Amino acid sequence: MAKNILKTPSLLQYIFETSCYPKEHEQLKQLRETTIVKYGKMSIMNVPLDEAQFISMLLKLMNAKKTLEIGVFTGYSLLTTALALPSHGKVIAIDMDREAFEIGLPFIQKAEVEHKIDFIHRDALSAINALIDEKHEESFDYAFVDADKENFTKYHEILLKLVKKGGIIAYDNTLWSGSVAMSEDEEMEEAIKRKRKIAIEFNNYIANDTRVESTILSVGDGVTLCRRL
Ligand SMILES: C[S@@+](CC[C@H](N)C(=O)[O-])C[C@H]1O[C@@H](n2cnc3c(N)ncnc32)[C@H](O)[C@@H]1O
Repeated sequence: MAKNILKTPSLLQYIFETSCYPKEHEQLKQLRETTIVKYGKMSIMNVPLDEAQFISMLLKLMNAKKTLEIGVFTGYSLLTTALALPSHGKVIAIDMDREAFEIGLPFIQKAEVEHKIDFIHRDALSAINALIDEKHEESFDYAFVDADKENFTKYHEILLKLVKKGGIIAYDNTLWSGSVAMSEDEEMEEAIKRKRKIAIEFNNYIANDTRVESTILSVGDGVTLCRRL
């Protein structure tokens, strides 16, 4: 089960066992298990099941048809998105790592949703700038950002041009293992400490951005939803 220090292990186990595992799509399950075998500890990069369930419901509530994903890895959130979209829906998915995407691809194919996915193997910043040039402005219902935290602010500025008014931009890991609420001198792993400051700066930046209505949810490792005004 994915690490989540925001909830007690027993509460998380209850949520997973009651709501998540019984309803997990067979191909999502297989993709998740294959990622664990192939990537070991790094498999924690897949969004956890409760977050995936939330994303799926959000997309259906929004009636989203055209979406964008930055940060695919083996594709747990991507397959979740493709399954939630209508048959004519599209998700443009960007990652520099084609190998990881190809690990998840057979499960996307078995789930029969490959036709909804356009994978772009490229650095995200240049890829989303190219989408502006290719006239995708104000055309996306939803964007999910789960890549390099250092660039979240830059992504945000461009995504505000790509996502429709009323559309949603979701950012992952914005509570960064709960470290954003800890004091600097508190004991924490070096890897957590390094990106804690970046997460805090990004959260402050979003909180002060009058172009969006935003909320931080304690789902997974923290998900910030921004609704474009
Ligand atoms: C946390 S993983 C994404 C996990 C995925 N959302 C899931 O649920 O399986 C982050 C991914 O972002 C990609 N990434 C990081 N920086 C990037 C960049 N500048 N451009 C494109 N992809 C990037 C990495 O290659 C990695 O696969």
